[in-house]
Amino acid sequence: MSETQNEWDIMANKYNKVFRPRFVPVYNEIARLVAVNNCETVLDFATGPGEPALTILEQTATNKVIACDGSAGMLQYLKKAIVPEGKELQIQHLCNDKDIQHLRSDVVTCSFGIMYNSNLANLLALFKTCAPLLVCSVWAHHSTVPFLRIVKSASSGTLTDQYFETEDASFSLWNRDKMEAILKAAGYEIAEYNLVELPMEFASPKDLMEFCEDSEWFTGPSKEEALARAKALMQEYFEGTSYKMNNHAYVFVAKKME
Ligand SMILES: C[S@@+](CC[C@H](N)C(=O)[O-])C[C@H]1O[C@@H](n2cnc3c(N)ncnc32)[C@H](O)[C@@H]1O
Repeated sequence: MSETQNEWDIMANKYNKVFRPRFVPVYNEIARLVAVNNCETVLDFATGPGEPALTILEQTATNKVIACDGSAGMLQYLKKAIVPEGKELQIQHLCNDKDIQHLRSDVVTCSFGIMYNSNLANLLALFKTCAPLLVCSVWAHHSTVPFLRIVKSASSGTLTDQYFETEDASFSLWNRDKMEAILKAAGYEIAEYNLVELPMEFASPKDLMEFCEDSEWFTGPSKEEALARAKALMQEYFEGTSYKMNNHAYVFVAKKME
């Protein structure tokens, strides 16, 4: 965690407001897959402000979710959540990935979390000690995640497509082949790989850009310039002023190989 921790703390409020409601289709799909696989206990890694942990508790027969994250700022939102009666939510602030190695569950879920870890092989090895199953969301190809392209491009001050060809992990250009190779090397096999559509709507470029205006993501221009750039990019993508972006993510189920 370490180097990203402060940044997620800084972005927690805006993330919770801007993206959490817009990522609901992914949380629902993760919960559906947890239910299909009859998981009674869940470890939700990098839970952020608390999804999909809460969605799972609300929509499935799962009794217990251990929700963990390296950002105390993110977890403060989950601490205020109402847990469905008869269900158990355990919240854990992680100082180190290894803090999870003693935890046991039927499945590890992780929504948009694995891409921020600099040592994915180690993380997957830890997940394997916790549960036999992994249900995870990752971004699809960067060309089908316009909101992230716009935020990154506008806040970095770079407007060319060249920027999008970088191996920036938060875009996660992990198509199925790449994901399959990573998982196979870690001792997993993919059981399902499902495309989820996120039809995200923004009333204005400001609504989108406020997510990162206080963070280190702003590396180039001033806030005003970033907003103008975001507006130009959004107008390129969309007709009219509704700014409804069709983004894509994948949710996969991976099983531990014996
Ligand atoms: C994009 S947010 C996703 C939050 C939530 N899972 C969701 O889908 O809304 C990424 C989260 O990963 C957490 N994170 C990143 N690296 C982590 C690590 N190594 N250990 C624990 N949490 C981590 C951040 O603190 C942040 O809350």
